[in-house]
Amino acid sequence: MTRAELVNKMSLDLEFIKLSLAGNLVGQTIFYRQETGSTNDDAFELGCSGAPEGTVVIAEKQSSGKGRLNREWHSPAGVNILTSIILRPSFSPELGPLLPIMTGVAVAETMNMYCPEKVHLKWPNDVLINERKVSGILAQIKMASGRIEFIVLGIGINVNMLRDQFPAEIFESATSLRDEIGKEVSRIELIIRLYENVAKWYKALVNEGFEPVKRKWLAMTPMIGKKVRVMLREEIHQGTAIGISNEGALILQTAGGKEVKISAGDATIIKE
Ligand code: BTN
Repeated sequence: MTRAELVNKMSLDLEFIKLSLAGNLVGQTIFYRQETGSTNDDAFELGCSGAPEGTVVIAEKQSSGKGRLNREWHSPAGVNILTSIILRPSFSPELGPLLPIMTGVAVAETMNMYCPEKVHLKWPNDVLINERKVSGILAQIKMASGRIEFIVLGIGINVNMLRDQFPAEIFESATSLRDEIGKEVSRIELIIRLYENVAKWYKALVNEGFEPVKRKWLAMTPMIGKKVRVMLREEIHQGTAIGISNEGALILQTAGGKEVKISAGDATIIKE
């Protein structure tokens, strides 16, 4: 076993993670898988069988990792973070989209601890370092009788992945924490900080509403005031980003001065 493999193996010592997270809402119950299809699918199943709020699934490898908009999520085994968190919020379903936004803020804040001032958020919840994607979030909601029964927040973070491990199609647009800071990162430390930050921002959202999350999101995005294009299948919207709504939609002002709220899609800043 190489040194890198050893550090990564040791880094997911579950007992240590649990001990470090004593009293934290997220990470009290951990399901660890060497390999699985998708941690989101596993968490969804656990959610259906009544797993408590804060339960997490962690995997070293996914054979069918899922991304947003029906894409795939690629990650080599044992070097990154692949996790899904179950939350059971009691707020109304229209506010469901605020949960992945809140998670984006928590991930960005965690990344910022390693790479200060270089971390940005791209709507809705991509986390970028030096304009390259380091993390993505996939939320899946289970509704029952018109309310949210639970939500699965799937988080993929490229931690110790090396440049030559990125597939060709994302080689230019993606990065890893290690690539950015030039040294290996302890995944155990990172995952503990991540679960602490998710719990902290979730509590803020539940107790204080969207305002604090929104403020932090706006402070970490370069999009506001920029020309932005949002694509969703055949649909394309273009305009100046002027904010996010209280339901988590991106607000664009079109060339004609009209304000439109976009609730899903892939956003890019148009370079002029
Ligand atoms: C995106 O497209 O940006 C979202 C990617 C989400 C990937 C994570 S990895 C852990 C969890 N399990 C999955 O199958 N997907 C999410």
